[in-house]
Amino acid sequence: MSSQPENSAKYWSSHAGSYSFQTKGLLGPPGASLLEELDSLLPFGSTPDSEVYVLDDGAGSGNTTITLKTKYPRVRLLATDLAPGMLEIMRSRTDKEQGWTPIETRAANAENLHEASLADATFSHVVSAFMIYFCDNPPKAVSEMFRVLRPGGVVGIATLTEPSPNWRLPWQKTVRHFFSQEGRYDLKRVEYESPYSFPMVTYDPTQMREMMVKAGFQDVTLRNFDAHFEPMTADAAGFEKEEIEAMEPTFREQYLAVYGENNERQHEKILLTTARKPKR
Ligand SMILES: C[S@@+](CC[C@H](N)C(=O)[O-])C[C@H]1O[C@@H](n2cnc3c(N)ncnc32)[C@H](O)[C@@H]1O
Repeated sequence: MSSQPENSAKYWSSHAGSYSFQTKGLLGPPGASLLEELDSLLPFGSTPDSEVYVLDDGAGSGNTTITLKTKYPRVRLLATDLAPGMLEIMRSRTDKEQGWTPIETRAANAENLHEASLADATFSHVVSAFMIYFCDNPPKAVSEMFRVLRPGGVVGIATLTEPSPNWRLPWQKTVRHFFSQEGRYDLKRVEYESPYSFPMVTYDPTQMREMMVKAGFQDVTLRNFDAHFEPMTADAAGFEKEEIEAMEPTFREQYLAVYGENNERQHEKILLTTARKPKR
């Protein structure tokens, strides 16, 4: 039997082709807001570039990395993720960008960054968007963020305050109904277990603060962010962007017929946490 990290890496690699397209409307705004907050704590741009070194921990196919590099093309950045397929898509999305310093990528489990040879006190900033609740042991991932940050460095973490099935369930139902009607739902394309089928550990603000303080962080700040999403085919495992675009109008019609325009399931409650590693 495969382990959870193996299953998770397979799942995310197989979603990599269409992941950013599916999620940018939902996860882009809170990710950008988290970066702005980090920038106000420790500017990405005003210190000489060599002093700024950012880790995007669980970077996926680049939603946060690309937002940051678009604003600061010369910022030095390492993007890590459990799923090599996600990093591959990020490279294909960013390689052609003019004027950007190259983005380093490395496959790594956030719980064991030392296994990917990430040394203590390496980064000025660590950003981690929508990743820690997929870890077996989120506090371990947070401790690793603390370890790899330089003294005085800052961290920004985006999480969900409620388990995702709150909104994924109707979405998944519609997707399955839609694909089976179309004769297109091929279970072989999702033969591994989705990480969403594992218990997801979400943290409310009190628990999140406790976890950060326990890891050693200070100046912990928490902010709620309500995100909205458009009905789309988020569970279309293995389908390419063009295929999804072609199917989307019919899917949307079906989704809206069942759940309606202003359905509360189209909201996601997000928690943005920032903190600092003590100077000494
Ligand atoms: C919802 S995506 C978020 C990606 C990106 N940060 C974003 O905001 O779009 C979750 C990502 O976390 C990665 N992931 C899951 N468990 C991980 C772990 N233990 N270590 C590192 N990455 C992990 C997945 O491979 C996936 O790319």
